[in-house]
Amino acid sequence: MAQTAPQPFGIDFGGTGIKGAPVDLDAGAFAAERVRIKTPDPSTPERVAEVFVDLLAQFPDCTGAVGVTVPGVVRHGVVRSAANIHKSWLGTDADRLFTEATGREVHVVNDADAAGFAEVRYGAAKGRSGLVIVTTLGTGIGSAMVHDGVLVPNSELGHLEIDGHDAETRAANSAREREDLSWERWAKRLTTYYRTLERLFSPELFVVGGGVSKNSDEFLPLLDLDTEIIPAALLNKAGVVGAALYASEGGG
Ligand code: BGC
Repeated sequence: MAQTAPQPFGIDFGGTGIKGAPVDLDAGAFAAERVRIKTPDPSTPERVAEVFVDLLAQFPDCTGAVGVTVPGVVRHGVVRSAANIHKSWLGTDADRLFTEATGREVHVVNDADAAGFAEVRYGAAKGRSGLVIVTTLGTGIGSAMVHDGVLVPNSELGHLEIDGHDAETRAANSAREREDLSWERWAKRLTTYYRTLERLFSPELFVVGGGVSKNSDEFLPLLDLDTEIIPAALLNKAGVVGAALYASEGGG
């Protein structure tokens, strides 16, 4: 009888909550109800590791690899940027720290890369070839570039400099909230942003994720672009599912 690999576990580490669930890789869905624990303050890697231990202890039957999203650049398990997280993450070998703390095989991945990978495998961009750019509009702007199903990690397109500004400071959902922008005014900024991506990369498709994508009817029709742009399908599941998928494939 064919041996089936143990189910992987996905953890989505965010500014307010740390969410985790075992993931069914055939379905691209949670295999058990997701658990959410408040993010510790300050959210240093060591304190976050303690939360992961508690979280995993709630799923003793799930023994596979663990994937963890981090909102920063991750190379070979080491966190290389910390735009919107505690600065103590910089230079942390997160794969090693979390593997030692939990006794499990842990692979850390950029949050947008995890979400983008899941959208291409199971969600809005399933079956699409060529270059798909998935962006997450939240506190910052995250990006994932996936070409013919293969993830090119750490693209960090939220930090493109446009008109002298770090793009995410003008076009992220946090900028819309902070400046109380109407959907129309925000859509103008998004048009400038996505037109820049079009010029640089000529993608086949844009997928828009992040919490605000549930309101995509309010702003996507207002964008003036040449490229097809659609909302994400997995919404708040994308991080957990994508992290588990990434870990199950051995990380990067
Ligand atoms: C970070 C990215 C992250 C994005 C979304 C940006 O500020 O540089 O690594 O993917 O925010 O959280």
